[in-house]
This record gives sequence, structure tokens and C-alpha cells, in this order.
Amino acid sequence: MPAPFPLPRTARLAVLASGRGSNLASLLNAFPPSEAPSGSAASPDADASTEPPPARVVLVVGNVPGAAALARAEAAGVAARPIAWMRQVGDRVTFERELQASLDEHGVDLICLAGFMRILSPDFTRRWAGRIVNVHPSLLPAFRGLHAQRQALQAGVTTTGCTIHLVDAGVDTGRIVLQRRVPVLPGDDESTLADRILDQEHVAYPEAVRRLLRGEVDATGGAADLGEAGEIGGDPEGEGTA
Ligand code: GRF
Repeated sequence: MPAPFPLPRTARLAVLASGRGSNLASLLNAFPPSEAPSGSAASPDADASTEPPPARVVLVVGNVPGAAALARAEAAGVAARPIAWMRQVGDRVTFERELQASLDEHGVDLICLAGFMRILSPDFTRRWAGRIVNVHPSLLPAFRGLHAQRQALQAGVTTTGCTIHLVDAGVDTGRIVLQRRVPVLPGDDESTLADRILDQEHVAYPEAVRRLLRGEVDATGGAADLGEAGEIGGDPEGEGTA
């Protein structure tokens, strides 16, 4: 079992993504790889601080070969590992075996799911308990699963948001690390609402990772409890309006 957070060194992050990778981009900006191409947005030269960074992204794994997220990783100078697992290609057992081998090879401390559209096995999430985190586009426990923005519109809520949470064996059920609210505006459709939430995801995810790595999150807790474990950041009236 690896050391719990905080670590006495810069943490090594892996990001798992299936699609365009905008959350990956925000994590790369916040936790640049050590060997980013000079002049790139993820270059550590951009940060003049002499403090060692809390984390670096060292590995990106994608289950959809050719997805934009993998190209982003390559452009940032991070190891990009496609392991095919799609509707009719690949399977979870093989994916997780190859994933674990890559995580070991790169000495990963924390896994960030960022638009990763597959459900990992209970064995895998148990092995990584407290060290695997996800971003979801709702204020959990509301609107778990797919199409969270559509669910919010159909429910007629006036506020929704995003949640960064630890991953357990359930779907979007793990302990909440950080949440940010956004308003649902008259005339919103899934796309406008998703964009507004996404802006807050890009703020929340790096901040949640920093808190985890500082050891500020009780990773041993059970299911998410919005009232106690969750922290709402941001101003629902003032942020993220289109
Ligand atoms: C985000 O909306 C995230 O909340 C959800 O999947 C989407 C991924 O977007 N889990 P991106 O690939 O990070 O741009």
C-alpha cells in the first residue's frame, strides 16, 4: 500500500480520459509534466516559483485510440498510452491489467478520471481507494450517471454544478472532495448548461487535487454526504453565467 497523502515529494498523477480532454488540459496546466516541450502551455518554465510542485501529470491513458485527449497528452510531452476498451473492442479485465502495469511503470500516486466513460471494477477501485478521483457535471448526489445536464434540465432545478469525488465501487457515489455551483438560466439547453458547468470543472478539479494531496480529505469515509463532506465553492449568483 503506497504512502497516504500528503507525500514527502511531488505526487505523480495519471489521467484517464475517453474524449476531448478539456479537464485533462486543466490538470496539465496546473500540474505540468517535468519534460513538457519548452514554450508549450504545460511547460514548467511558465512557473517561476522555486517551490517543488505538488504534483505532475506523468501518464495519460485513453480507452479510445485517436481521442483528442491522447493527442493533448503527446503535445504536452506526457506519456500517452492508448488501451482500447470500447463497445466491441477490448474488455475490462485486459484494460485494467494493462492499466495497472502502466501505473506501476510510471510510479503513479493518484488517478484522475477526466471524462473517462467506462466503469472500473470493484477490485480495481478498492486497490486504489482514496487515490482515484473523478469529475462529474452535477452537484452529487443529484443526477448520477449519464446525461447529468439533461437530468438537471428535466428536473427543473435552478442551480446545478460540478463535483470532484473519490471513486468507489458505485457510480458517482464516492466521497465528495469539492463542488462548485452554477445557475441554470432560462433558455438553457444541454449544450449551454454543459459549457457553463465545464468552466467550473476546470477550476474545481485542480483545486480538489491540491486538497487531496495536502491530506485535507478523509479518504477513508463512506458514501458522499453533501451536507458534511461536501464543500461548495463559488458564488452561484456571480459565476459562470453565459
Ligand atoms: C465533463 O463534463 C465531465 O464532467 C464528464 O465528462 C466530461 C469530460 O469533458 N465526466 P472533457 O473530455 O474533460 O472535456
